[in-house]
Amino acid sequence: MIPQKTVQEILETAKIEEVVQDYVNLKRRGSNMIGLCPFHNEKTPSFTVSPTKNLFKCFGCGKGGDPARFIMEHEHLGFPDALKQLAGKYRIEIEEKEMTPEFAAEQQERESLFIVNEFAKTFYQDQLLNTDIGKSVGLSYFKERGFREETIKKFGLGFAPNQRGEFTTKATQMGYKPEYLEKLGLTKNGRDFFWNRVMFTIHNLSGKPIAFAGRILQKDVKAPKYINSPETDIYSKSKILYGAYFAKRDIRKQDECILVEGYTDVISLHQAGIENVVASSGTSLTEGQILLIKRFTPNIKILYDGDAAGIKAALRGLDLVLEKDMNVKVVLLPDGEDPDSYLQNAGATAFKEYIDQQAKDFILFKTDLLLSEVGNDPVKRAGLVRDIVDSIARVPDPFKRAFYVKECARVMELEEEVLISETNKVVKKILQKREFDRNRKRGPQVNIVPEGSPTDGGKSKVEIVPPIESPNKEMGRDEFQERDIARLLIAFGGEIFDEEEEITVAEYILSNIEEVLDDFDNKEYQDIVKKCLDRVVSKQTLSAQYFIGHTDHTLSALSIDLLHSPYEYSDGWGERELYLHSQKMPEENFSKDSTSALMRFKLKKIIRLCEKNQQQLVDLKAENDSNKIMRLLKVQAKLNDLRNGLAKELGTVILK
Ligand code: GTP
Ligand code: MN
Repeated sequence: MIPQKTVQEILETAKIEEVVQDYVNLKRRGSNMIGLCPFHNEKTPSFTVSPTKNLFKCFGCGKGGDPARFIMEHEHLGFPDALKQLAGKYRIEIEEKEMTPEFAAEQQERESLFIVNEFAKTFYQDQLLNTDIGKSVGLSYFKERGFREETIKKFGLGFAPNQRGEFTTKATQMGYKPEYLEKLGLTKNGRDFFWNRVMFTIHNLSGKPIAFAGRILQKDVKAPKYINSPETDIYSKSKILYGAYFAKRDIRKQDECILVEGYTDVISLHQAGIENVVASSGTSLTEGQILLIKRFTPNIKILYDGDAAGIKAALRGLDLVLEKDMNVKVVLLPDGEDPDSYLQNAGATAFKEYIDQQAKDFILFKTDLLLSEVGNDPVKRAGLVRDIVDSIARVPDPFKRAFYVKECARVMELEEEVLISETNKVVKKILQKREFDRNRKRGPQVNIVPEGSPTDGGKSKVEIVPPIESPNKEMGRDEFQERDIARLLIAFGGEIFDEEEEITVAEYILSNIEEVLDDFDNKEYQDIVKKCLDRVVSKQTLSAQYFIGHTDHTLSALSIDLLHSPYEYSDGWGERELYLHSQKMPEENFSKDSTSALMRFKLKKIIRLCEKNQQQLVDLKAENDSNKIMRLLKVQAKLNDLRNGLAKELGTVILK
């Protein structure tokens, strides 16, 4: 038998459109999807799937239900087997249990935990509404904040009294096991965990109390403002959103979920008639919370009250939301206001108007915010491009992606093609990584039974992981050295290399490699070097901006790439490691970088010459022409000297 907890997890995770789509071709129609009913014969589709309601319904034959129902009908399975199939699809592990006495006890315990929490909720409520101290301290506080009595009751607000024994004593008197009280965190070492605080009940999606939060009333005390119940079998913080039970109906109805930070924000908004609101309770969104919202709507509106730095930090986690194909909008509240205070100050009508008008699409919001910070610094700008591209690439819907590319290109004053090619690169990487992860999870597995152990139940597994293909497979030889030269030219070409001689980095590098320019193996880097040479010769300035903004899209995209990934050094010489030991910031190192990059470049070219020479020697030996052989041997010795000298010098330069 499947544990109740797992049943719930499966039902909460399974998404009707994903389940149905394994069998039926669906087309989007408004917020629903339709297709040909798999349960009866039809030529025009009357089979409807509602992702927000998580239900299917056929208007032809009348069949309908949730994902489990669909599998039962389609596969002619009973409920438990349908669940197992869904669990397989969503990779939820089922630890099936015999209905042993232990298992029965476990199920029983879950039930007991709910019952004890139910008691605690009633206790705190009673303290708030029916005791003198509760009324004068707790209730008056809530009233002062504008909470009406019906709201207070609906949300299960309460009060934990000052004496630290009251709750535990009462609960024990009533026969609730101390073991459960401790497990739920209501009692700690025999004493009340919550005391002298106003209480917020945290409900699960079915409205059962699973945890509590207590808010301190005094100001200027060192104790934390909120304390919370610990995680238990019935309370998993990362999968719960405060207020979800009260909000779910309206979230579906409005097809949008408003996300705030605080408990009181939820309650306030709810009371003002904005019911589709939940709180992340001060932490950043988890994947579990996102999936929870997604069961009701793909549209999230996040209300932020933080400062720019806080918002930036919060934005970082949001790419995860994009990945789940959600539409995210962001509303920045006026300075110093949180949703609750702003609502109280402005009134419900103005509040609603404000959040509707100010709601900005997340990616565009992020672009604006970051853009306002980077100014004209080309390296930072390149970083910004990468940051935005990372977000856009996570959007699974190609049409939406195209829209973002267009909009962001406009805002950032970039050629659209540059963003497209950059985005595609990241998309490719993400796909590769997914493929990799998938293979790792699902891929062929070899069971290894350790010697000496008769069976280990297949627990120790060795996974065969296919190697991920190098994205640079098509690159020519000496890619790293040439790439580095190009990177330095783009990033620092215009900088002064040597004050005394008044030469720029570009002049220094170019004067050293002009004669081998035709020996470049990678055309794109050669192009960059040639472009630089042209500009230097014609006495034009060089800047990163020139390359980033270049009308040749391949060139501009490559430049962004190069600017963003410094120090991809060649293999084999341990340079990278040496480099990491140097203390200076990258920017300050460009002179030394240029010198060592040049040497590495020359070194690679000399090594190539050595190889060529050696090959010629081998070929000549067959001909037995001793004169020619002697000459080649001399060349070889020279080249070897050069190579050793360079290698040695390179070592010193890097260590300097
Ligand atoms: P009020 O100050 O009563 O308006 O509460 P609030 O819910 O608006 O709180 P605030 O904006 O300060 O914080 C937002 C959310 O962060 C809260 O609802 C809590 O979930 C969480 N939080 C804030 N302070 C603490 C704390 O000290 N401990 C814990 N665990 N959570 C906190
Ligand atoms: Mn607040």
